[in-house]
Amino acid sequence: MGNRTFSMIKPEAVAEKHSGAILKMIEEAGFRIVALKMTKLSEERAGQFYEVHKERPFYNDLKKYMSSGHIIAMILEKENAVADFRKLIGATDPAKAEPGTIRNLFAKSIESNAIHGSDSDENAAIEAAFFFSRMEQF
Ligand code: GTP
Ligand code: MG
Repeated sequence: MGNRTFSMIKPEAVAEKHSGAILKMIEEAGFRIVALKMTKLSEERAGQFYEVHKERPFYNDLKKYMSSGHIIAMILEKENAVADFRKLIGATDPAKAEPGTIRNLFAKSIESNAIHGSDSDENAAIEAAFFFSRMEQF
């Protein structure tokens, strides 16, 4: 799985019609779309997805935010996918994200930061399976 990562375009970026521009950046950076769907998370399911953060002070806000609208989930393939994708999206806090990164261009705040990217090969596999069956992965 070293060549795959999982990503989500987050609710405010979908609502503000940045999905097309973001997908264009992802494809132009050399990623192949393996799976893609638009869906909406319940607060409970958003909480499961970000369960590692359940002790953090922002966990409740994060659950509300991630269930506030539609998201676009995807599996992406490229050599060194996890690290290269984190580079493409930039730092969690858009104020610290490198110029030209997706978060630098589209994120509004440290919470409403436009896009998610897996932080390890292991989590990429877990997160991909959270959204997609084997038959939905191409
Ligand atoms: P993801 O790709 O979404 O996992 O972001 P990340 O890996 O860059 O950051 P992290 O996993 O530490 O945090 C997960 C998400 O929680 C972030 O993307 C933000 O949406 C939110 N978040 C992180 N830190 C803060 C914070 O200090 N305050 C608030 N309100 N939200 C935060
Ligand atoms: Mg993270």
